[in-house]
Amino acid sequence: MKKVLNLMLILLMAAGTLFAGGQQETAAADVADVNEVEVLHWWTSGGEAAALNVLKEDLETKGISWTDSPVAGGGGDQAMTVLRSRATAGNPPVAVQMLGFDILDWADLGFLADLNDVAAAENWDAVVPEALKYFSKYDGQWIAAPVNVHSTNWIWANKEILDGLGIAMPQTWDEFIMAMEKIQASGKIALAHGGQAWQDATMFDSCVIAAGGPEFYKKTMVDLDEAALKSDTMVDAFKKMSQLRSFVDDNFSGRDWNLASAMVIEGQAAFQMMGDWAKGEFKAAGLEPGTDFYFSRTPGTDGTVTFNSDQFVMFDVAPEYQNAQKELAKAIMAPSFQVAFNLVKGSVPARTDISDAEFDAAGKKGMADLAMASKNGTLFGSMAHGHSAPAGVKQAMYDVITSHFNGVYSDEEAAMELAAAVASAK
Ligand code: BGC
Repeated sequence: MKKVLNLMLILLMAAGTLFAGGQQETAAADVADVNEVEVLHWWTSGGEAAALNVLKEDLETKGISWTDSPVAGGGGDQAMTVLRSRATAGNPPVAVQMLGFDILDWADLGFLADLNDVAAAENWDAVVPEALKYFSKYDGQWIAAPVNVHSTNWIWANKEILDGLGIAMPQTWDEFIMAMEKIQASGKIALAHGGQAWQDATMFDSCVIAAGGPEFYKKTMVDLDEAALKSDTMVDAFKKMSQLRSFVDDNFSGRDWNLASAMVIEGQAAFQMMGDWAKGEFKAAGLEPGTDFYFSRTPGTDGTVTFNSDQFVMFDVAPEYQNAQKELAKAIMAPSFQVAFNLVKGSVPARTDISDAEFDAAGKKGMADLAMASKNGTLFGSMAHGHSAPAGVKQAMYDVITSHFNGVYSDEEAAMELAAAVASAK
């Protein structure tokens, strides 16, 4: 995928196409600032839209107006497809929500504006955690402003269902399975899930850790070690996916993640395994973690965190847009904004100097877990959300994981296929 993208873009550039941020580049250097940003993003669910509003409103107070370019599709794959076609047509947006290795790919192609001036003035080097800087900087230059840190290894649960059946939040994988058996027997849906590749992969992040622990996650998802990818431990990770498959309802295929969250919120289903953007849906429904619904790290993954960070990149566009881009980058990183935004989004701040005082119980745990995992060497980029390997490898893994979840491969075959797919994609 990346190779094709590179080739397409290089040919286009060689043909002399001028990329000018949605507008033809003007010759004059001193044209007036356009205090407007067109932002391409995939935040379209209730909780996501509420969080996005915090950003829009913050910018408006600075005199910058927002032109919304939403592309629905959790995880952002559809948004990235739209971005590629706009960029190759010479019409990239002024700013784009982006994840992990995609940021580095676009930087590598020379499309991104450098944010060094803002970063230096605002002292980003001192406050952005190293794990995020890996994706916010390219060749020593700041090319992205991180708005949050999400993590993917969480479960969210309906309190009434669990309390009604006398089920405590499970601590181990076996307890999780036993809880779901009991829920299924009661006639409720045990696991709310949407059968889309990125959602299958989000559960897979946790199954890999539950099967082999943090070292195994690193060896397979980050180091892409072939022997580990086809090992018995990986077969066990797929076995766990097969177990999960037996607890989803018949209509899971293609369902959006926020509709799966709604099933838990409304009491049709007991659990959802999803990143903490799901908490944003519960909060948008007026529910508080701990009191109105339950949450915990996915059983079998305690002590490890698989993270992803939404960052905003600025495309290298005509000079009259640069002021607005800088204001956007500055606004994103402001401490008070990081608190206000992340309270709504379900994520935690992308800065190390922010108190957890205003955060709810899940936010406090998220912040504490992140700090602990970072200290213990058990913090890893989420494969499902583009933070453990480049897009080509991620897509290759998605294909195998989803095929397996839909019964194309046995657990043993899936591990072999995974190793083969990764070998040919990397
Ligand atoms: C993003 C979140 C988003 C989620 C669902 C993740 O990749 O990091 O911000 O809410 O996808 O769309």
